[in-house]
Amino acid sequence: MEKTSIHGMWSSRTAFILAATGSAVGLGNIWRFPYLASDNGGGAFVLVYLMCIALVGLPILIAEILIGRHGRRSPITTLVALTRETGAAKGWISIGWIGIVAGILILSFYSVVGGWTLHYSWLYLKQAFGGAHITDPAATFGDLLAHPWELAGWHAVFMALTVGVVGLGVEKGLERAVRFLMPALLLTLLALVAYGATTGHLGKAASFLFQPDFSKVNAGMMMAAMGQAFFSLSLGMCTMMTYGAYLPKDISIPKTGAIVALADTAIALLAGLAIFPIVIAFGIDPHGGGPGLIFTSLPLAFDVMTGGVVYGLMFFGLLFVAAWTSSISLLEPATAFLVERRGVARKRGSLMVAALCWVIGLATVFSFNIWSHVRLLDRDLMGLIELVANDIMLPLGGLLIALFTGWALKETVLREQLAGMSPAVFTAWRWTARVIAPLLVLMVLLNVVL
Ligand code: PHE
Repeated sequence: MEKTSIHGMWSSRTAFILAATGSAVGLGNIWRFPYLASDNGGGAFVLVYLMCIALVGLPILIAEILIGRHGRRSPITTLVALTRETGAAKGWISIGWIGIVAGILILSFYSVVGGWTLHYSWLYLKQAFGGAHITDPAATFGDLLAHPWELAGWHAVFMALTVGVVGLGVEKGLERAVRFLMPALLLTLLALVAYGATTGHLGKAASFLFQPDFSKVNAGMMMAAMGQAFFSLSLGMCTMMTYGAYLPKDISIPKTGAIVALADTAIALLAGLAIFPIVIAFGIDPHGGGPGLIFTSLPLAFDVMTGGVVYGLMFFGLLFVAAWTSSISLLEPATAFLVERRGVARKRGSLMVAALCWVIGLATVFSFNIWSHVRLLDRDLMGLIELVANDIMLPLGGLLIALFTGWALKETVLREQLAGMSPAVFTAWRWTARVIAPLLVLMVLLNVVL
């Protein structure tokens, strides 16, 4: 009989793909990818990013789902069981700990930015009912950042909505809504790309994104691209392992993994193609846009296009939903740990973790105002948390996941989980997990240190 998870199973391949892309597609694609491309010189960053997705991201995505499906339990319990089963060192369980800590750190700033999407949805909602227009987006954004308690308030609302789903377990309703809302987000992005084409600057935007200027390649940029690949695919912190645990046996891991990676990458590239024509058309420097890029550029277009208010509301509203479906997967690992290992009730556990994330998030909130002078390693506090969690912890977690799958798990287990993969692809994948992906991650991490 097939081994199943005590938490239930995905009803179909589509259900799994929707949940996994729901986690993958979020602020990472639409807020972070464009601003990192802007800060790191465009084309060269995008090229390195795509290489990281193909050579490191997809193979590790497959590894993570595979461990999850073989173990069928929450990450730490699975890792404990698998180290026992294989006789591997207990040290591998640290993969689960890295995931829990990285999830908490990421959610701390993710929720602050999620709060920005709520604030902007609110501004456009008010505008739809006759409220003031956003005519000077840079000033509007600057004004928000200058008010710590307004930021902290939206941050609290976003966190409360996340706890609402994780703590009350109302995932079902959200899952159903997402079936319509994610395609709606895709359509809004496509409409913005079309609008960008009417400005006549789509070509310039495409060459900014796709013509690599190799003089821009450096250690810091490669680390940003690698970190972003892990962040965008929700990799390296056991999220995909959790989702893999509920995946029925007869569904192909490589195929579904490839679909998730492709969808995630396509949305990021579309976001770039939607944003940069507008940036260029309105005379903004495409370089060095920083975390405010989409908030300071897109409202310029929404103010002049026909139906701009509706687009503004749809864009920020749907971006909030995309962020929401990702944030629940960030809160889940630490909550599951408290529930399973410490016997805390689910509601209470998720509330405790969220409260902790909210407090840590204040460092991000204050990094824009009262603590803006605090700099460490040449970064402000938000940048520092992004560095530690996204650029170091996720790749490190991914590296360990790849090594564990490649070296510790038995070949029979791998073959059973990847049944249907051709022998040549299997060998290529296995050596990527064993050597190539870990080596690439290590090179990028060490390059920055040395
Ligand atoms: N992938 C999500 C995004 O791009 C963020 C995320 C990272 C979610 C890690 C879960 C785990 O927005």
